[in-house]
Amino acid sequence: MIHIGDCREVLATMRPALADCCITDPPYGDTSLEWDAVCPGWIEHVARALKPNGSIWVFGSMRFLAPLFAEMAAHGFRYSQDVVWEKQNGTGFNNDRFRRVHEHAVLFYRGAWADVYHATQFTNDARARVVRKKEKPAQWHGATGSTTYVSEDGGPRLMRSVMQVRNEHGRAIHPTQKPLELLLPLIRYSCPPGGVVLDPFAGSGSTGLAAGVEGRQSILIEMDEAIARSAAHRLDHDAPLLRGIA
Ligand SMILES: C[S@@+](CC[C@H](N)C(=O)[O-])C[C@H]1O[C@@H](n2cnc3c(N)ncnc32)[C@H](O)[C@@H]1O
Repeated sequence: MIHIGDCREVLATMRPALADCCITDPPYGDTSLEWDAVCPGWIEHVARALKPNGSIWVFGSMRFLAPLFAEMAAHGFRYSQDVVWEKQNGTGFNNDRFRRVHEHAVLFYRGAWADVYHATQFTNDARARVVRKKEKPAQWHGATGSTTYVSEDGGPRLMRSVMQVRNEHGRAIHPTQKPLELLLPLIRYSCPPGGVVLDPFAGSGSTGLAAGVEGRQSILIEMDEAIARSAAHRLDHDAPLLRGIA
């Protein structure tokens, strides 16, 4: 279900404390496109819609995110951590700078961190082929007569803060459509199973699709009616196909 309208107006009609987390990608104001116009005041409405222990992931460029910290602070939200999305190609607005092939997602929270829902994420990509010969501790000498033993790395390790995920250019229904692989770990980290993820700038509906894959519910809001209808179609069409892939 996607609500069509300005997220500030739509959220004002909803009861408070209904979402477990917010994962969103607001308009950055980088272009003159109508859907990219910055939206002042959205944080206040999201803060009201979140449960007290809910957190907010915000995607964006550093130019967009840097001023956001003060606005977040004004509503009681502090920086927790950020992840970097490394894309296979990027945008170069300026030919005299580094080509930007990454975006950030910053996590903000309020209250005590220990109260904020967060489920540590692991990946199973520690490489088993890394086999090391290690010196045995001194107290082991003599037990077998050997000074070395073989240990194998492998199995789960903490998920890294840099995610290399291909962008969706060529198959996207929205110019800034976020890939599901990027959203799935954020949802698992910040929303309890069966909980509710809020995305007030839903665009193509990727957050809702990813929430469904992870067995979470979603509240999606999108101002542009045509985009909202495409997102609704995508959700109807793709969600059943993706069920059970996580
Ligand atoms: C950066 S895009 C989000 C793209 C999305 N993450 C995706 O994966 O497709 C921002 C979206 O917010 C919408 N938007 C802009 N201002 C809005 C507002 N005040 N209320 C609701 N939606 C808004 C735009 O139409 C645009 O689709």
